[in-house]
Amino acid sequence: MNILDGRQLAKKIRAELSEEVNKIVAAGGRAPHLAAVLVGEDPASQVYVRNKVRSCEKIGFRSTLIRRPADVGESELLDVVRQLNEDEAVDGFIVQLPLPRHINEERVTLAIRPEKDVDGFHPVNFGRMAQGLPCYLPATPAGILEMMRRHEIQTEGREVVVIGRSNIVGTPIGILLSRKAYPGNATVTICHSRTRGLEDHLRRADIIVAAIGIPEFVKGSMVKEGVVVIDVGINRVEAPGTEKGYRLCGDVDFDSVSPKASLITPVPGGVGQLTVVSLLMNTLKAARREIYV
Ligand code: GUN
Repeated sequence: MNILDGRQLAKKIRAELSEEVNKIVAAGGRAPHLAAVLVGEDPASQVYVRNKVRSCEKIGFRSTLIRRPADVGESELLDVVRQLNEDEAVDGFIVQLPLPRHINEERVTLAIRPEKDVDGFHPVNFGRMAQGLPCYLPATPAGILEMMRRHEIQTEGREVVVIGRSNIVGTPIGILLSRKAYPGNATVTICHSRTRGLEDHLRRADIIVAAIGIPEFVKGSMVKEGVVVIDVGINRVEAPGTEKGYRLCGDVDFDSVSPKASLITPVPGGVGQLTVVSLLMNTLKAARREIYV
């Protein structure tokens, strides 16, 4: 069994990005600029956004955090989005989700100009992805592909089983791994809560992408010898007696699955480490006008 170390890979990519920024600045250009909009005080969202902003600073990107209270009106938030759309000093921006219930997330996402949608959440970017056109890929699928590329994981002709069909992980990674490309050319099955015989699907998988949000759902008895496991889950489970009172775990039961796996991503320290890096890679692409010329 080999562990796919997301921390080490993320560090390497950050160093590469930092070098790119230095080159841009040395040539008289300006550093890529990411803006993040955070509404309310949700603790998890605050941590995620702080990570994104800090990561920008670490590698020499410019970043701007725009905060609004939880009771901000939808029209005021849409105004913030419009201003960022027009701001030539901002290359790309994100609106952290979830938004408070009185705000329609779809309307907000649709208001972001696809050219600046470095989260890849706008249907224009999703549609372009599905058609194999240049686009911003959502961060987690992009992180999975980058990990596969860097570790030269073979996907052609392989049986990939994805569990979970969300718009930001399961569905896009299913599309991406079945396209005619590398990584890709795989035979993909997307499983979900209504799938019958889920364990039979899992047992014939050469590669499993677990993104269902159920702690330690995939057990050793459900996988075949030599399987490659990408665990996207980040779950908090109670851990009495520990300092924090909880521990983090994935959607895969690492202890029983890892002895059978040829490669496996741990949680924490696996593919999650690459999500922020993917956002930074998209921001660099935005600054270079690589996707939308
Ligand atoms: N909430 C959880 N993940 C994400 C993400 O990748 N982008 C945004 N905007 N919100 C999120």
